[in-house]
Parts: sequence; C-alpha cells; structure tokens
Amino acid sequence: MATVRPFPSSFSALAARTTSRRTRLVFCCSCSATGDEALTVAITGATGFVGRRLVQKLLSDDHKVCVLTRSATKAASVFPSSAYPGVTVAEQGDWEQCIKSSNAVVNLAGMPISTRWSPEVKKEIMESRVNVTSKVVDHINNASPDARPSVFVSATAVGYYGTSETDSFDESSPSGKDYLAEVCREWEGRARQVNEDDVRLVLIRIGVVLGKDGGALAKMIPLFMMFAGGPLGSGRQWFSWIHLDDLVDLIYESIKNPAYRGVINGTAPNPVRLAEMCDRLGQVVGRPSWLPVPELALKAVLGEGATVVLDGQKVLPVKANQLGFSYRYPYIRDALKAIAKEL
Ligand SMILES: NC(=O)c1ccc[n+]([C@@H]2O[C@H](COP(=O)([O-])OP(=O)(O)OC[C@H]3O[C@@H](n4cnc5c(N)ncnc54)[C@H](OP(=O)(O)O)[C@@H]3O)[C@@H](O)[C@H]2O)c1
Repeated sequence: MATVRPFPSSFSALAARTTSRRTRLVFCCSCSATGDEALTVAITGATGFVGRRLVQKLLSDDHKVCVLTRSATKAASVFPSSAYPGVTVAEQGDWEQCIKSSNAVVNLAGMPISTRWSPEVKKEIMESRVNVTSKVVDHINNASPDARPSVFVSATAVGYYGTSETDSFDESSPSGKDYLAEVCREWEGRARQVNEDDVRLVLIRIGVVLGKDGGALAKMIPLFMMFAGGPLGSGRQWFSWIHLDDLVDLIYESIKNPAYRGVINGTAPNPVRLAEMCDRLGQVVGRPSWLPVPELALKAVLGEGATVVLDGQKVLPVKANQLGFSYRYPYIRDALKAIAKEL
C-alpha cells in the first residue's frame, strides 16, 4: 500500500523532515523561478490528467513538487513515495506552508466538465475552480515578500471565447456569453487577484487536451472503436486541441521563462474542423470513417460536457508563437499517431 506523506504542520517539523530520507524538499523561498536551479513547484490538480504528466516532467529535470490535494491518500496512491521521492503531498490545511516554501505555483484543479450538467453540478464546476484559485491566491498574497513564489501559472480554458463556426479567436478576443465562458471569466478573475507586483501571472487558456490516459479523447476512442468512427454532428465545428506533452512543455516554459506573462492560449497552431479530427482519429484507430458517431452516443459518455467537442471554437496560439514556443505536435495527424502508438 502507498505511503501517505502528509505535509508537516509546522515549519520546524518541516525543517526537520528536510533532513529525513523520505522528504527532500528544497527550501529556496522567493528564489526566482528562472535559470537552471532546482525549483520547488506547488501544484493543485497534480493528481489529474495534465498534472500527472507535469509532475513527471518536473521530476525528470530534478525539480521538486509539492502536490496540493484534497486527499493525501489518493495523491499518495498516484505518486507512491518509492517511485516519486521528489514529491511531497499536502492536504488543504498545509497548503499555505507548502506554497510559502515553493518557487512557483501551478493551479490545475477543477471538477471535470464531461458530466451531466444539473444545476448542482454546474455550481460545483464553477466553485471547484473559483474556490481553489481564491485559496491559492490568498496564500500567495499572505506570504511575506521573501517567502512568496515568484510565478503563478493558472489554468483556464478556450471556453472563455464562447463558440463559433466562423470566427477565430486569439488572446485579445472578447469573452463569450455562454456558461463555460462565464466559468472561465470568474476563474481568471480570481487568479488575477494575485499580487502582480511581486508575482508573475500566466493564465493558460487550454484547448482540448489530447492524450491516451484522460480528457475527451480517452472517452471518444472506445466510441470510435464501436461505431467505426465518423463525423460528429455537422462536422463543421472547430476543434482547438493540444497534445498533452505540448501543454506540459508550455506550462514548464511558463514557470521558467520570465517572458511568459498574462494570457497565453494553450492550443496547437493548427486547429481543425471536427470532421477532420474524426477522420484522422478513425484512421489512427483503424476504423474507416463512414458510419457517423451519433451525437447522442457522445452525449451519453460526455454529458452536456460534450459541448466542448460538439460546439467548438477556432483558437489560435498567437502569444505562444510570438514567444517562439516550439510545438512537438503542430499537426493533429502527428499528435494522434503518437497517441495511437501508446494504445
Ligand atoms: N483536459 C482538458 O482537455 C482541458 C481543457 C481545458 C481546460 N482544462 C483545465 O485544465 C485543468 C487540468 O485538467 P485535467 O484534465 O488534468 O483535469 P482532471 O484530470 O479532471 O484533474 C483535475 C484535478 O482537480 C482536482 N479536482 C477534481 N474535482 C475537484 C473538485 N470538485 N474540487 C476541487 N478540486 C477538484 C483533483 O485533484 P485532487 O483530487 O488531488 O484534489 C483532480 O485531479 C482543469 O482545471 C481543467 O478544467 C483541461
């Protein structure tokens, strides 16, 4: 069984633990998160689809991670101490201490949106993002200047822009009018309350993340296997996607590179219409695209959350391109091929 590693509740306990074999936290309060020094990065939502890959990337580059979670037991099973000696797990009462001991904070928490949207669920979709973000921002702002992390990278989503079959959106585009746009505005609004005099804020508006172990694709692939695979709805909807590895690289670069600041669209440079996405997905999973996947089937597995796939938007990563961010997977066929190889 996995060992639970709760975050020590007092600084002295924490300091004592730094010398122990099990905990290897680096105390480097308010070191800037740039250059090649080892960093400690505190992450909410680290146990999720994106977070898990980000943790692996940070550890592989010899950084330390503090997992800010609702459940230390769950986090310890995702990151067993034997395989993840660079990870410390903190439940909510210990988040503040953990944040004060970190160089950077990444905020990825949020209840999944691929569910049926009852009024209660909609409330939780909103609150899970807004409340966690507020809590993290308060802890950052309340830290003394010499203990304050130097960068705060907070997730948001391309849902900010609303949906359209005809318009394209970049970071300067206005927000949409639907429910997801409202969630994103509130979520970003809370993140913007961070003390930007001291802390560099990066807001990543994430597109549909493609990877085999989570997100929309993990739910779509079995459907494609069942129905042969074909266009969803009219197929003319835009699908703004990003490969998981590119998103993790973008977050990593946002932590380390002081030029990354403000809103950055976390999407690949070549969004596609949904018909093309379905065609390519059919090809890589070895299903010809002649039998359409019924909208109803997709709604059955994604709930109203299917809206992110069925009613899309064309979002261009203008800022990432200006910053010279280098994508491993600029084209969807290569992204899907790489994912299919792992299946
Ligand atoms: N995946 C995508 O395609 C996509 C697209 C656009 C935006 N995003 C955003 O990017 C972030 C990361 O995405 P992801 O796919 O990695 O998410 P995920 O796998 O659903 O994981 C998010 C994490 O959030 C925490 N969480 C879940 N429900 C919560 C609740 N009710 N209250 C508070 N925390 C809760 C959990 O961490 P603990 O259990 O450890 O607390 C969970 O591991 C999310 O905010 C998501 O909205 C993702």
